[in-house]
Amino acid sequence: ATIEKGSVTWESPSNIALVKYWGKKKDQIPENPSISFTLDHCKTITTLEFSKKTDLDDFDFEVYLDGEKKDEFKPKIQTFFERIEVYLPFLKQYQFTIKTENTFPHSSGIASSASGMSALALCLMSVEKQLINSDVIAGAIEEDFNSTYFNQKASFLARLGSGSACRSIEGDMIVWGETKSVKGSTDLFGIKYPYKIHDNFKEYQDTILLVDKGEKQVSSTIGHNLMHNHPYAKNRFEQAHQNLESLKQILESGDLTAFNALVESEALTLHAMMMTSMPYFILMKPNTLEIINKIWEFRQHTGLNISFTLDAGANVHVLYPKKESQEILQFIKSELVAYCQNGHYICDQIGFGANQI
Ligand code: PMV
Repeated sequence: ATIEKGSVTWESPSNIALVKYWGKKKDQIPENPSISFTLDHCKTITTLEFSKKTDLDDFDFEVYLDGEKKDEFKPKIQTFFERIEVYLPFLKQYQFTIKTENTFPHSSGIASSASGMSALALCLMSVEKQLINSDVIAGAIEEDFNSTYFNQKASFLARLGSGSACRSIEGDMIVWGETKSVKGSTDLFGIKYPYKIHDNFKEYQDTILLVDKGEKQVSSTIGHNLMHNHPYAKNRFEQAHQNLESLKQILESGDLTAFNALVESEALTLHAMMMTSMPYFILMKPNTLEIINKIWEFRQHTGLNISFTLDAGANVHVLYPKKESQEILQFIKSELVAYCQNGHYICDQIGFGANQI
């Protein structure tokens, strides 16, 4: 390759799983399929500067978050580079400066790994593309570098950084993990959900209530490992396949009552897995339960389609259709925000994936 130096920038969103990924095999292969809404506002913006170097023995990179050098992020990226080097042979030929920022507060307890790892994977794919194009122009090789290949490989690489990151490249709904009911699904990368989605889910809203902005109690690596020898693992993995199949019907029919039940059950099952593993963890906080109870009461009284989902933490994602957003947002502000740390929450909605800037 003939490129001396350059710079690429991508913005990539976070995502929220409806059917949860929890448990993995070697090489970041999921134990069960998952499906997520891509988010719109919660994003990481990453610029990758690269310049050719002569010493080819080691990876050479620096990381900045909001303009500040972050050596504590280096081990994770070192591991990522080691895992993906076989797929990107140029990694040791360049010195990289990774400059990253998030549209959401870093200490918000929102996982930045999905948006961060997908943004970095996309930047690296752009470098690969430039290198291959320069070779093609030089007459060396011909490569079919279309957008399908680009996105699939970006998702494949992102998966090796953080499993759920493979669901952040595109939108609006992404399936990751091979399962009978979704044609083309694979453990290797996320695919766009290939079936009809009812208009009820258009611009679906996700208001994230920041209950606890502290450090994660359990890293997701440790969390996934808790599913090894877990007494309920086998049933849980089967249930995820069934829930994906059920969700397919729901997404087609637009049955919001069934949707609410399915996503809430998935969230509580994820937490039940953590409570019943050894060692065991309770990742909800008292305010998480206060919010859940308020949501249930409100739904019962109004018949509106508000529901919640959770990640591996105490924050609550409040989900609801766009057309009910006026009343529901008013309820969130008047009743739920009081349970948030410093009253902090983020209004987001379904998005359409990453963009090069
Ligand atoms: O991508 P990881 O390894 O951080 O795992 C994330 C797992 C959950 O967020 C709890 C569920 C999911 O499917 O996103």
